[in-house]
Amino acid sequence: MEGGQGTKLDGKLGAKTEASWRSLSLDDIPSLISVADEIHADLPEDHEVFAERVKLFPEGCFALVDAKDDGLCGYAISHPIRRRHPPILNSLLGEIVPDADQYYIHDLAILPKAQGNGLAQECVQKLFDVAKKFPTTSLVSVYGTSSFWSRFGFLPPQDFDHTLEKKLLHYGDDATYLERKNHERQQLGEDRCDTEMGVGSGAS
Ligand SMILES: CC(C)(COP(=O)(O)OP(=O)(O)OC[C@H]1O[C@@H](n2cnc3c(N)ncnc32)[C@H](O)[C@@H]1OP(=O)(O)O)[C@@H](O)C(=O)NCCC(=O)NCCS
Repeated sequence: MEGGQGTKLDGKLGAKTEASWRSLSLDDIPSLISVADEIHADLPEDHEVFAERVKLFPEGCFALVDAKDDGLCGYAISHPIRRRHPPILNSLLGEIVPDADQYYIHDLAILPKAQGNGLAQECVQKLFDVAKKFPTTSLVSVYGTSSFWSRFGFLPPQDFDHTLEKKLLHYGDDATYLERKNHERQQLGEDRCDTEMGVGSGAS
């Protein structure tokens, strides 16, 4: 599928290779766990949790693949949720709820050797293409990445709810819930119309 021609990498650790995004499959999960173990050592999630999301919403799951050895050097997991009901860490969803009204980015992780090459930004645009059917996209920012997400219009909601605050405890002390209106893409000059983006259907 998508992935383009690959991006020449000169990542933070100076490794030089090429990498591109493609769909994530169930066969990628063991490699994904290795990447997750390296990046999210303090926020571990089980194989079943990743596998379930790939099964339930494959169009929201991407793999970043090193062109040289086909190894996984990053991944993204996302799916629809009920607005402001992000799943707690390491929990199964059971289903994508039929009344889902918000898109949710569960995780975006890139190994240090591949960071700093615009690949996260490329992936976020792919996720927004999937998210565009929903009025808003949300995520739980960790590791002080709020300023990274703010580049894409993600902000803490003003009417923050305390039930949500409890859920965030699972994601560590620095976890911050962020939201963006998907129609902000339009304001950035992209060719989408309100009808297509579902604007006006209850966004925060
Ligand atoms: C956050 C992460 C995905 C960014 O990956 P990346 O490959 O460095 O990102 P990109 O190269 O696409 O960066 C795009 C832009 O965002 C900026 N940026 C990257 N990481 C940032 C951060 N942590 N805070 C603020 N800005 C950041 C880059 O400087 C770049 O800006 P520029 O276009 O002006 O040069 C990566 O650092 C990562 O996997 N971190 C560990 C896991 C993580 O924190 N995931 C998010 C959890 S919510």
